[in-house]
Amino acid sequence: MASNVPTLAAEAVLVASGELPVEKVQVQGYDFNKGVNYHELLSTFKTSGFQATNFGLAVDEINKMIEKKLEPLPSTADDEINLSPCGRPKTNCTIFLGFTSNMISSGVRDCIRYLVQHNMVDCLVTTAGGIEEDFIKCMAPTYIGKFELKGRDLRKRGINRIGNLLVPNDNYCAFEDWIMPILDQMLLEQKEQGIIWTPSKMITRLGKEIDNPDSVYYWCYKNNIPVYSPALTDGSIGDMIYFHSYKNPGLILDIVEDIRRLNSQAVYAQNTGMIILGGGLMKHHICNANLMRNGADFCVFVNTANEFDGSDSGARPDEAVSWGKIKMDATPVKIYAEASIIFPLLVAETFARTFKPEPSCSQN
Ligand SMILES: NC(=O)c1ccc[n+]([C@@H]2O[C@H](COP(=O)([O-])OP(=O)(O)OC[C@H]3O[C@@H](n4cnc5c(N)ncnc54)[C@H](O)[C@@H]3O)[C@@H](O)[C@H]2O)c1
Repeated sequence: MASNVPTLAAEAVLVASGELPVEKVQVQGYDFNKGVNYHELLSTFKTSGFQATNFGLAVDEINKMIEKKLEPLPSTADDEINLSPCGRPKTNCTIFLGFTSNMISSGVRDCIRYLVQHNMVDCLVTTAGGIEEDFIKCMAPTYIGKFELKGRDLRKRGINRIGNLLVPNDNYCAFEDWIMPILDQMLLEQKEQGIIWTPSKMITRLGKEIDNPDSVYYWCYKNNIPVYSPALTDGSIGDMIYFHSYKNPGLILDIVEDIRRLNSQAVYAQNTGMIILGGGLMKHHICNANLMRNGADFCVFVNTANEFDGSDSGARPDEAVSWGKIKMDATPVKIYAEASIIFPLLVAETFARTFKPEPSCSQN
């Protein structure tokens, strides 16, 4: 360096490097001269930086959940302990999968259906739309539209918009025709057999009634995977329950029994993992259940929300560590991204590659 450079500036710009505060990993992306190899491409995400690196870390975290799940349970003399509170056979890692309603409206539904069809996850939590949209899709399709379509024009045509998806009103009419007799029957069983219905019991019943292998909840019913939705009335199902309460009053849904079942599934688990797509009620519901066991062992969040507003939706995993919802020695990951792009890729690099399903679980 020329001697006339001011010493202050030279020292400020050329500060000598010390040790890196983290393990040394070089930034490296994919070289397309190798051809198009999607697995190789996705493997380089971890060393690419930004959210690609978080994707790579999330792949590792989910694969750790799967590895733990496939380890044998520690031996116990008590067979009862090897059943989860919902009667589902316990594994060495109970995986909770949460998702917002729009995931079921979108093609993410088919990834979720694959996971429950092959018994790869143990407990689902979602909001009302995340339940009804699955059944409605068994009756009539959801279409690709445009974000820009005008609400006034769509309203006049009886078409509803979810982002750039379109759902004709007729689909909800078909849903009404299907669900009303089931609500009548549930009320009868409540009155005559003393059945106490809860949202999760109702979802299991609807999964049985739909009898369609395209449905997420059909497979949850078949594989005894409980589905919790404490705000089940906040959607079209709620509209149906509201109309039904005039037509044939008296149906009761008990959320108390469900919170006991959900929390027990976390409390009595050997290890737990949480995969949560989106934010809001279902994110907190899963995390709070894991507080009951002093924290989940593994965790992946995928969402677009930020923490600056203090929202639970945007809270990073470290906030959940402070509450005891994730274990202090866990290695949780948050990917800041839109789940319809990320979740299929995550499944491709984890469950679909490394989890060998039991043949009995995939039979119709
Ligand atoms: N199809 C539907 O979305 C639908 C249908 C009927 C009823 N509803 C009702 O609307 C209410 C609100 O829905 P909700 O609680 O499921 O979630 P929401 O749509 O309000 O989303 C909650 C947060 O999740 C994150 N998020 C949502 N979509 C995401 C994506 N694609 N990728 C990444 N992050 C994403 C965002 O941070 C968002 O603020 C619920 O009570 C639900 O039952 C929704």
